[in-house]
Amino acid sequence: MNIIRPRRLRATPALRRLTAETHLRPSMLTLPMFVREGLTEPAPIGSMPGVVQHTSATLRKAAVEAAEAGVGGIMLFGVPERRDSCGTGGVDPDGVLTRAVADVVCEVGDAVVVQADLCLDEFTDHGHCGVLDDSGQVDNDATLAVYAQMARVLADAGAHVLGLSGMMDGQVGAVREALERNHSDVVVLAYAAKYASAYYGPFREAVDSCLTGDRRTYQMDPANRREAIREVGLDIAEGADIVMVKPALGYLDILADVAATSTVPVWAYQVSGEYAMVEAAAANGWIDRRRAIEESLVSIVRAGADHVLTYWAAEVATWL
Ligand code: PBG
Repeated sequence: MNIIRPRRLRATPALRRLTAETHLRPSMLTLPMFVREGLTEPAPIGSMPGVVQHTSATLRKAAVEAAEAGVGGIMLFGVPERRDSCGTGGVDPDGVLTRAVADVVCEVGDAVVVQADLCLDEFTDHGHCGVLDDSGQVDNDATLAVYAQMARVLADAGAHVLGLSGMMDGQVGAVREALERNHSDVVVLAYAAKYASAYYGPFREAVDSCLTGDRRTYQMDPANRREAIREVGLDIAEGADIVMVKPALGYLDILADVAATSTVPVWAYQVSGEYAMVEAAAANGWIDRRRAIEESLVSIVRAGADHVLTYWAAEVATWL
């Protein structure tokens, strides 16, 4: 005789809603957006159906729409017209990203948290996240000096949050120190456990990346779990206000570990390849698009993310 029947709580939509352990809210989502210098029309990104490289005008409009949909934040990525070995465009007060930050802040003010990617890969002609030494390796400490300068420029433009995605050792400390004088209230979001992932593939198209080779000397090895706790601990000690795990769906164990130990908010980045896989399967009629999107986001939050960067942010916000 069955007295214990877990199915009782699943019997009706109302009971399921009442007993759900995980909830998504629009404020838990940040929309990553791309702006490309010199565009006159938005340019679709083939491997990310529905996502575009914006002109500065369409970026402003889309940012307002995302804000109206209720997303918690917007993360900006800039694609410059010209690149060089030092990533000079990233520290240009008149550069594409800096101007986009100022434009979007001007448009949405404090209604949404305006975030900027702080990394050099969009601005270097070799496509690496930092500057190179004579042997062609990414020079960690020389890169920190450039990040510090980029942090000041982006903060001057009005960014509320800086997303440190370069995976250089000591980047959080270097940026925190650079911000201390005039921008001590700017939030540092550390991509603390960022793995060298194949799932960033479509992003390369989104930012017209020049990278040949890979980022395995600075991004983490997907095989490593314990090391994520080490990275997170260092970033928090250096002054990170928020830590991120990236990618998301393949790294839910990491997310759960970090959520269990972090003393600061834990975010996850549902990356371009995660987006592309669902869109491609849905376009073929192989998967229920909306259910797959919702399930993936609920899973990421269930594993421990307080907030998720996702290219579906604005759309999902309107569903909730
Ligand atoms: C690097 C950066 C990358 C992504 C965000 N920031 C690419 C990389 O590290 O290779 C990927 C995001 C995505 O795939 O959606 N600044």
